[in-house]
Parts: sequence; C-alpha cells; structure tokens
Amino acid sequence: MEKIDLEKLKPVEALTREEAKAELAWLADILNRANRAYYTNAAPFMSDAEYDALKLRNKAIEARFPDLKRPDSPSDIVGAPPASGFRKVEHKVPMLSLEDIFDDESVHEFDHAVRKFLGLSPDAPMDYTAEPKIDGLSLALTYEKGRLVLGATRGDGRVGEDVTANAMTIRDIPHRLKPINGHVPDLLEVRGECYMTHQDFFALNERRKERGEKLFANPRNAAAGSLRQLDPRITAERNLRFFAYAWGAHSEPVAESQHEALQRFRAHGFKVNILSELCHNAEDLVREFHVIEDMRPTLDYDIDGVVFKVNSIALQHRLGYRSTTPRWAIARKFSPVEAWTWLSKIDIQVGRTGALSPVARLKPVNIGGVVVANATLHNEDYIAGRDSKGNPIRGGRDIREGDWVKVYRAGDVIPKVADVDISKRKPDSKPYQFPHFCPACGAPAVREPGSSVRRCTGGLSCPAQVIERLIHFVSRPAFDIVGLGEKQVEQFYVLSWISEPADIFTLEARDREGRKARLTFEEALSRITGADPAEAKLRMARAVGLKGFDPDEVPRRFEELSRTPLAAQYGWGETSARNLFRAIAARRRIPLDRLIFALGIRHVGQVAATMLARHFHSWQAFYRTVTRADPEGNAEWEELVAIDGVGPVMAEAIVLTFRREKERAIIDRLVDQLEEIIEVEAPAPVDSPVAGRTIVFTGTLEHMTRAEAKARAEALGAKVSNSVSSKTDLVVAGPGAGSKLRKAQELGVKVLSEQEWLDLIGGV
Ligand code: IVH
Repeated sequence: MEKIDLEKLKPVEALTREEAKAELAWLADILNRANRAYYTNAAPFMSDAEYDALKLRNKAIEARFPDLKRPDSPSDIVGAPPASGFRKVEHKVPMLSLEDIFDDESVHEFDHAVRKFLGLSPDAPMDYTAEPKIDGLSLALTYEKGRLVLGATRGDGRVGEDVTANAMTIRDIPHRLKPINGHVPDLLEVRGECYMTHQDFFALNERRKERGEKLFANPRNAAAGSLRQLDPRITAERNLRFFAYAWGAHSEPVAESQHEALQRFRAHGFKVNILSELCHNAEDLVREFHVIEDMRPTLDYDIDGVVFKVNSIALQHRLGYRSTTPRWAIARKFSPVEAWTWLSKIDIQVGRTGALSPVARLKPVNIGGVVVANATLHNEDYIAGRDSKGNPIRGGRDIREGDWVKVYRAGDVIPKVADVDISKRKPDSKPYQFPHFCPACGAPAVREPGSSVRRCTGGLSCPAQVIERLIHFVSRPAFDIVGLGEKQVEQFYVLSWISEPADIFTLEARDREGRKARLTFEEALSRITGADPAEAKLRMARAVGLKGFDPDEVPRRFEELSRTPLAAQYGWGETSARNLFRAIAARRRIPLDRLIFALGIRHVGQVAATMLARHFHSWQAFYRTVTRADPEGNAEWEELVAIDGVGPVMAEAIVLTFRREKERAIIDRLVDQLEEIIEVEAPAPVDSPVAGRTIVFTGTLEHMTRAEAKARAEALGAKVSNSVSSKTDLVVAGPGAGSKLRKAQELGVKVLSEQEWLDLIGGV
C-alpha cells in the first residue's frame, strides 16, 4: 500500500492558489491510479476510507478554486453516474455507419464507384485497408493533452451517452496516450469497437445461470449491457476489450493514411486488430476478405464482415459523405447463411400504417449461430410465388403452412423464407389464403392499385395500428420515453391507460387520483377483440398479470390495477415509476423535428421530419401550411412540395393526415400537453463564398469529376442544378460548354472557368 499521510495535509482554507493547483494535479493522478487499481486490476493500494477522504478533499479544493478544476478531475470521472442514466454528449464529428454489401461483385463495384467519383482510370493505383468488422459497439474516446477525459457511446450517431467511468475500467483503453516522439496531440478522439471475447461471454453467462439471472443472447449484447452499467465496478468485472480503428475530433492531422493511423494508435498504446491489412486493388480486397472469412471460426471474438477503407486520407476527404455513410468505406458482410426447416404457421402482423405483414413461424433452427424461429414472407404475392408485376418467382412455387422451407439470414436483417421444397408437401395441403379482413380489428384489408401491400382500413379504430403508432411515438428517434417500451405500451393500451399520445402526459395525474383506466373493463375488452375473441381475452389476462381468463378475477384485477399507484405495482416499484414520470415530464419540451417524426405519418421518416422542421421553424407555421395545403394545388401546397426531400406523395400523406378529423384532434390534444416545441437549428451555416447559391456545371471539368464537383459544392452549402435559369447564381463552364453557357450569357448569369471556381472555393 502506498503511504498517504492525511494528517500532514494543510487545511483546504489555508492553501494558496499555487499549492491548490499542485495538489489537484497530485489528487487527479493518485485517484485515477487508485480507480484503475481498484476497478481494473482488483488490487487496491489504498483503503476505501483513504480514497473517500482524498476524493472529498479534491471536491473541497475545487469548491474553493472552481477555475482550477481539471478536465480530468476525479470528481467527474468515477462515482455513481446520475441515477436517471447517463449524461448525453453530442459528438463533435457525427458517428456514421457503413453501407453493407454481401458479395465479391459488389467489392469491384465499390472500387469502380470510388475511381469514377475521383476520375481515376480502372488501373490507376488505389490503396485500401481491409479490417475485420468487429461485432461489438462503437465507442469514442476523447483525449485532451493525452489524458482520457470522455468515453461516449455512439447513440444515434449525433448524441451518445457519457460512459467515461465505465470506459476507464477497460484494460485495452489507455488513460493516457503514450507520447510519439515525445509528443501527444492537444485533442484526439479515438474511435473503435468495444467487445467481449467468447471465453468471457460464456463464463459470464455461466455465472448468470448459477445466480438464476437472465442470459445474454450473444457477446455483443453482453458487451452493450456491460458498458451501460451505472456501477462501473460491474463493468470492470466483465472484462471488456477494445480495438481502435477510426477517429473523430482532432487538433492536428492524425495521419496521411488509414494504415498509418492504425500504427499511430498502436504507438499511442491502443490495441489494433492484427488482421488489418493494406491492399492495393479490388482483387486484393476480395482475397483478403476470404482470408479473414477463413480465420473467422478460429477467432475468440465475433466479426460480421470486413471493412474496406480508401487508404489515403486526402482521397477520403475528396470522396466525402452521403447523408449517413462515407463514400470512402464499405462493409463487406459475410455471406448470408441458410438452413431448411418446417414452416408451422403463417401469422399476420398489422403495422403502424395498417400494412398486413405475413410472418412465418418456424420450427426453430440454428442458422450460423443464431436460433431462428420467425422469418418474413414479405407479402401476399411473395407467398403466392409471384413478384409485384405478376411474374413467377421461385419457379412459381407458392408457400403453404406445413411446408419444408429454406430460411436465409444475412447479418442483422430479418430472416427471410427464400424457397420451398414442394416434394415434401403433404397431398392434402392447401394454398395459403391471405386474409381480406384485418385480423386485429376485422375491418376490410385492401390493396391499392399497383401496390403489393394489403392494408387494414380500420385506421385509428384498429388496435394494432394504434399500438404500433404509440410504440413509434415513444421510440428513441421520436419522443424517446425511456421506461415505456413495447411491452408497457401494449399493456397500458389494453388496460386503457393510454389510448393516444396525449394520454401519456396525463398518466401521472390519473395515477395519483387512482383512476388510470379510461374505459370500463367491457369497453376495453371489446376494443381489442378483432378477428379472434379468445386471443383478446388472453391478451387482457396477460395485461392484468394473470395466466388464465377467469371471468371474475380478470375484471377485478383490471379495476385494482387502475386504482393502485404504479409505484406499488409488480414490475414497477417506486424508483421505476418515478423515473418513468420524470422521463415523460421531460418530454413536454420537444424539438419540432422529433414531434413531426413522432406523428408517424406515412412516408415521413427522420430525414424528412428534419427538413420540414428546418423549413417551418415553428409548429404553428407547419400546422398552418399543412392544414391549408390542397393537393389540387394552392400556394401552401406549392410551398410544401418545394421543400427539399418532400415530394407530392409525402406531401399528400401529410395533408390527408391533418384532414382526418379524428387524427387532427389527436394531434391537437397532444400539442396541448406540450410546454415548448423547440425550434430546430439549421445546420451551422457553412461559411463559404458559395453557401446558399445555385450553381450549374457545364462542359468538361479537368480537375475533378462532375460527381465530385457537385458533392464539394454541396458540402460548401451550395445547391447544384442541371439547368440554367434566372435563379442560377453561377455557371462553371469547362471546354466544350454549349447551350447552357449561351443561356447564362443571355441571362447575365456570372460564368467562371474551372480554375476560377477552384480559386473561389480554395483549391482541390
Ligand atoms: S469504420 C464512418 N472500422 O461497424 C465509418 N467500423 O457499420 C466509421 N465497426 O459503427 C466506422 N469494425 O461500430 C469501422 N474496423 C472497423 C469496424 C467498424 C466494426 C462497426 C462500427 C460502426 C459499424 C459501421
């Protein structure tokens, strides 16, 4: 044990500024070492009492000299994170994902696309790295002056969670960067994958089994569960690991190539996967992929593919990004795996927009390490053996209940029924009859002309649609109400505690009054009785927490649960109830884009919701326009369809939603419950001479391809158009320019040569 004489330390009140500064440095060092010794090495060198005393002293000094508080202050680092969860942190550089490809052919296509974008010939040298795609969860580690000050999860890519205390317990993560030639950067955010080895995973599940705890499904889930622990001591026990492979914010260039960056990470003290290789062309990539694929069964950790990255960082910059993925990298996933099994039953699920989706219930079968019991059958035509145009697929073979089928699984995507062996079919089997009525509410289910989807026409009278919409409403990219998961939404709906979004916000008051249910037992039961009354009774029994439907007991429990505060109910308890109500209350202030997305309007995804929010700024402006817009054509309609990313199909879906009385009333009641609808910030205005300008490229460009020129102009905030009009601000004309150039001259639009354009935007 290190000897620390607490008695000898000066009283905090007596410290000079200089002494305080020196002592804070000493405390940060010793407390961080103590944490590591305790959490990571399980070999503490000071007693708990000494540790607590030093921590208190550190706090007291910081309270006296707040401006001396260090970025790596021990008071911020270890210690219980707030009980409500983890602090949110915004990523300075968004954490994007990769496009997936599944065959060798697509690797060549990727290489072609890269060359085409850059205007390089097919045989020009082009280096790539090939790195195993570790199947864990990505983690961003920020180092300031070489010290680890922040560990953040990916979250939604823009905002993650602060898991610093937990990251600090991971042995592969250095607390301090090793200097390279005596130097550490002021700022470096190292990104990589946090994962668990197979050996640790099996041992962990073994221990959990002994204690009767729920088992983790796979090492990735185990790693995610272990990293998101409120008590870092638990994370420390789980023995997580980390491979570095990318970076975010940085104060100085990290390297000139990806390959060099990996070597630097290693020199700074990180683990870098040894299977990462430098490749010189597409054939190399394909070869390397198969080498890694062959190694896969021998590795002690999961990988789900190989990531290819353009090696040169300068070329990566030129290639840039699409909306959520880089052009300079791609993930070649391992080929899908298949297995044959029996299809026992076809069930129909009703989605948020009423789409009837057939699901195959299978005799469980192991496909590439995952047990599969359900698979999608896409739609009615797919089951019947034809495509959307009526042409035969699978040689026209239909799929029936009781068939022997081939199931296919690729990565994380939902398994599919890919084929059927009709030689194993029983002679008395019958073709599957796709329902023409919604199984959840009994309303007619119809197909729009040209669509392969059959939809329930029940709208808001269909319990399945209502529940799916509520689930969408509380989901992470929408209102993100932690504590209301799918199970709870289903239960609360069946019990009639929540029937529409506004009810979520009045739940706490009704809970206090002891009147949560909005309907009588009979009304609630009849509401969920669709095609199958027995199923409805079963769901009701489940919702009240009983196994069987006892005609007396279930209604009695229904009343009792409505009266009993959530805090006193099975599965809840005081803390969970408080946290839920707190989470709900916090969402009375909501950004406009989330609100629009949460409404669950058909075709309106996250990107469109953001575009709409940025265009309208306020809910009032959005509401005014969408309630007045007329698809037959008027000024509001024109405004709507002119928004980037909003076409007539989406605009019509929005307008129709607000025209339906019932839906509009539901939206109004929701908005009444909100305190503030927060304006969405437009993306930081790009500070460039061409921001907001409309540009047309014409003729031959000599320094870059059209695609690159367009991408660069857009990255600088310009709009690129194909035709010259009075709205055009600038025409960039290369050799061979013809009619567009003439038109620009006629209209008096400014014309630049490619070189003048490059000078304007600051070179290649
Ligand atoms: S690079 C801009 N390299 O795969 C892309 N990702 O689908 C930055 N992953 O979120 C990612 N191994 O969690 C990269 N060698 C590797 C990787 C890797 C695993 C994960 C990562 C990322 C996801 C992308």
